[in-house]
Amino acid sequence: MTWETVDLDRNEGVATITIDRPDALNAMNVETLDALSEALDEARDARALVLTGAGDDAFVAGADIGYMAELSVAEAQAYAELGHRVTDTIETFPAPVIAAVNGYAFGGGCELALAADLRVAAESAVLGQTEIDLGIVPGWGGTQRLSRLIGDESARRLIFLGERIDAAEAREIGLVSEVVADDALDDHVADMAAELAAKPAHALQAAKESLNQVHESHLSAGLTYERRLWSGLFGTHDQREGMTAFVEDREPDFE
Ligand code: COA
Repeated sequence: MTWETVDLDRNEGVATITIDRPDALNAMNVETLDALSEALDEARDARALVLTGAGDDAFVAGADIGYMAELSVAEAQAYAELGHRVTDTIETFPAPVIAAVNGYAFGGGCELALAADLRVAAESAVLGQTEIDLGIVPGWGGTQRLSRLIGDESARRLIFLGERIDAAEAREIGLVSEVVADDALDDHVADMAAELAAKPAHALQAAKESLNQVHESHLSAGLTYERRLWSGLFGTHDQREGMTAFVEDREPDFE
C-alpha cells in the first residue's frame, strides 16, 4: 500500500513510518492521519517501529491549522477522535515505538511523540504543546500523557505558556530520553530499533502492556495484571530458550 503523505519502510523486523508532507512541515491533516492509521495497521507485525518526519526541519509541526481554522464543534470532535484513535494505536502498538524527533514537534506532533514508548531528539529539534496561542488546548492526548510523562507542574508550564523548548531542555525535563547530533539521529535510532527487534517479541509486548497499565489502574490491579502477564510467558519458546541459553552459557536464539 502507498500513501501520498506517509511512507512505510520495512527492514528485518523494523518498520519505519515517515510523515512526508514537507511543504506543510509534516502537519497532520485528515488525509495524513488516515494514512498513518493504515500504515500502523500494515506494520503491525513489526518487532520495532520508528516514527519520524520527512526532511530536515520538522518531525510534525502539529495538527493542520489551516484545516482547523473554520471547524464547527462537531467537526472538531471528529478530528479529535481521529487524532485519539491514531495516538491510541501508537500507544498500544504491539511492539516498541521510537519517535525520532528530527525537528519541530509542536501541538499534535508533540502528542504523536508522547504516544510512543521512547523519544530520541536531534540536537536542533524544538518541541512544545503550543495550542494555547491558537486559542485551544492539546486535543490528541497531550494534557493526559504529558503530565504523566514529565509531571504535573512541568506539563502545566508547557501547556499554559505554550513554550517552545529545545532538545536539551526537553531532555532535562524528561520529555525525551536522549539527544543526539542531527546527522547521527537516523543511525542511532536504527541501531536502537534493531536491538529491540532482536529481543524476545512476546516478552517485550508483555512488558509494554504491563507498563501501559500503570496509568490505567490502581497499584493492586496493576500488580495482578503484571503477575498474569509474567506467568503467561512461561512455556513460550523465548522463555525456555532465554533461560536455557543463560544456564548453558551461550547466546539465545529467539523466535
Ligand atoms: N498546520 C498547517 N500548516 C503548517 C503548520 C501547521 N501546524 N505548521 C507549518 N505549516 C505550514 C506553513 O503554513 C507554511 O506553509 P506555506 O509555505 O504554504 O505558507 C509551511 O508550513 C512552512 O511554515 P513556515 O511558518 O513558513 O515556516 P517557518 O520556518 O517560518 O516556521 C514553525 C516554522 C514550525 C515555527 C511555524 O510554521 C509554526 O509555528 N507552525 C505552527 C506550529 C503550531 O502551533 N503547531 C500546533 C498546531 S496544533
